[in-house]
Amino acid sequence: MPSSDADAAVEFPAFFFSHGSTMMLGEPSAPAAYWEQVGRLAIEQGVERIVMMGAHWHVEGDHFEVATNPKPSKQPVAWVDPKKYINFDPNYDVDFAQHVLRELEDAGIDARPCPKFEIIHDTFLILKWMFPRGKSLPLVIISSNVHFDPHQHLQIGVALRHLRRQRCLLIGSGGAVHNLYRNSFSQAVFHRDNFAQERQPEQWALDFGQAFSDAVQYNSGPGLRRAVTRLMMHPQFRDAHATDDHFMPAIFAAGAAGAPEDEGKPNFPGAECWELLNMRNTQYQLGYWPYEPRVTEVPEHKKIGIAPPPA
Ligand SMILES: [Fe+2]
Repeated sequence: MPSSDADAAVEFPAFFFSHGSTMMLGEPSAPAAYWEQVGRLAIEQGVERIVMMGAHWHVEGDHFEVATNPKPSKQPVAWVDPKKYINFDPNYDVDFAQHVLRELEDAGIDARPCPKFEIIHDTFLILKWMFPRGKSLPLVIISSNVHFDPHQHLQIGVALRHLRRQRCLLIGSGGAVHNLYRNSFSQAVFHRDNFAQERQPEQWALDFGQAFSDAVQYNSGPGLRRAVTRLMMHPQFRDAHATDDHFMPAIFAAGAAGAPEDEGKPNFPGAECWELLNMRNTQYQLGYWPYEPRVTEVPEHKKIGIAPPPA
């Protein structure tokens, strides 16, 4: 457990979360239970702020943006009753957003404020599960950039890695296997059942999902950065990611967790689920929590189709 000494040696993990479809906001799932565990550990272990890059906010031009809207309105979420999220407070931290802007500028990154930002489900979907009491820890959101240059996005994580030693949780929210053009939406459209799997996922989805997990699990330090970036040259990358937007947050997270001092520190696959036939929503913890439990528990009993243990 954290003591009152805000010792600089305390370092928090980074995360890459696969947020899946919009229905992941409203339906219980193994990742949702995992996100709740991460939120609980964040509070228990003394996290003070969250900095996220989500897949759905990418700006045009050569720059990046940091949201500076103190009360961002929520963009609508398809297939989810607004009652499930409309009152959730993302607790946006404008002061820290300005600090993040300065940090990025100091690193030579063209980063600009965005006071008109509207929050999107890619971030508050996860935060809503992390903080079931209805209010996030203070939050800052960083854009991606439409060039989808992996090295640029890696540098954002590199520039902010040191925030992990300032009681800050760095999170990328995208998708491990996330190709909307190769999903099967009929069960969600007609029956609001995003988890129905009429048949097993296609081989390319299984293969790339495994390659993604191998890259994260069996590399650390700069090797992690190289391995995650190299996935964009994997022969099945374009099958798994028709567009690059849901992969950039993974590269941001690898940048935040792949410094030379991260060499030898393990990275962990967390909970996952399949949705819409071919979407693999795997979660990853990069590095240890500073206190026990060092690794976020994967809540087996909350997996879909598995009954909870007796009380
Ligand atoms: Fe998404």
